[in-house]
Amino acid sequence: MTKVQSGKDSAHIGKDRDYSGKELYVHNLFAAIAHHYDVMNMVMSGGMLRLWQRAFAAQTGLRPGGRALDVAAGTAELSLVMARQVGPSGRVTGIDFSAEMLEVGRDKVGATRSRPGGDRLAPIELVEGDAMALPFAVDTFDCAGSGFALRNVKDIERVVREMTRVVRPGGRVVALELSKPSNPLIREPYYLYFYHIVPLLGWLIDPKTERNLRAYGWLPKSLVPFPTQQGLADIFRRAGLVEVGFRGLTGGIVSVHYGTKPS
Ligand SMILES: C[S@@+](CC[C@H](N)C(=O)[O-])C[C@H]1O[C@@H](n2cnc3c(N)ncnc32)[C@H](O)[C@@H]1O
Repeated sequence: MTKVQSGKDSAHIGKDRDYSGKELYVHNLFAAIAHHYDVMNMVMSGGMLRLWQRAFAAQTGLRPGGRALDVAAGTAELSLVMARQVGPSGRVTGIDFSAEMLEVGRDKVGATRSRPGGDRLAPIELVEGDAMALPFAVDTFDCAGSGFALRNVKDIERVVREMTRVVRPGGRVVALELSKPSNPLIREPYYLYFYHIVPLLGWLIDPKTERNLRAYGWLPKSLVPFPTQQGLADIFRRAGLVEVGFRGLTGGIVSVHYGTKPS
């Protein structure tokens, strides 16, 4: 794999194809912040990340022995959540196009496994690859999940279609995402925090990265063109999913979206 230089127009960053534009930008950004990502995520969520992940887990339908896919897995946060659900007889695969994020994820999975209770986790395989062209056969997984990923991909519809393709009939597609709260009393302070405080927190945690890449300025920018909760639910329906729904969390700043592949 060729290392991507910041500022290049396109580069070969994966095994499968060249990336450019938004994808290259997003790739470089996560390569730069990989080592601070988990701390930043926890700080920015105000400690609510674990609650949101629990709400995600409640929608996966996963049982012991199940097979799960974590799409744009990053540092393997949701891979670990699903590995607890399916247990040692299950199997979890996480896929991401950032080798740097996966490297942090592998260390974290190793550390978690060596702690008490680590033997209750499913094996987790973290592979480098493209969420827009998942290298898995149709009907492979009981659940394909993603966390804070859809805002970062070039084509949301295509990723949701891919997630639907690789899930077995009756299996679930679940996405934990930031949302646009409809209540202005929540939306306005949330946007203020998101647009002004979050980049500042990014700078405090990692001044060098923030200066070079304006990394945490990307977060609010990525929310602007992102669909509303209803819009994302429509994308799930167009992908062929049924029993589509979403649950707003923390006043609707985050939502869990879900759907089932028809039998
Ligand atoms: C905000 S992080 C989310 C990480 C993790 N899912 C979580 O819950 O914390 C977004 C991830 O999407 C990945 N990503 C963006 N576009 C991708 C693509 N086309 N294929 C694979 N991964 C992608 C980035 O590398 C990054 O790790």
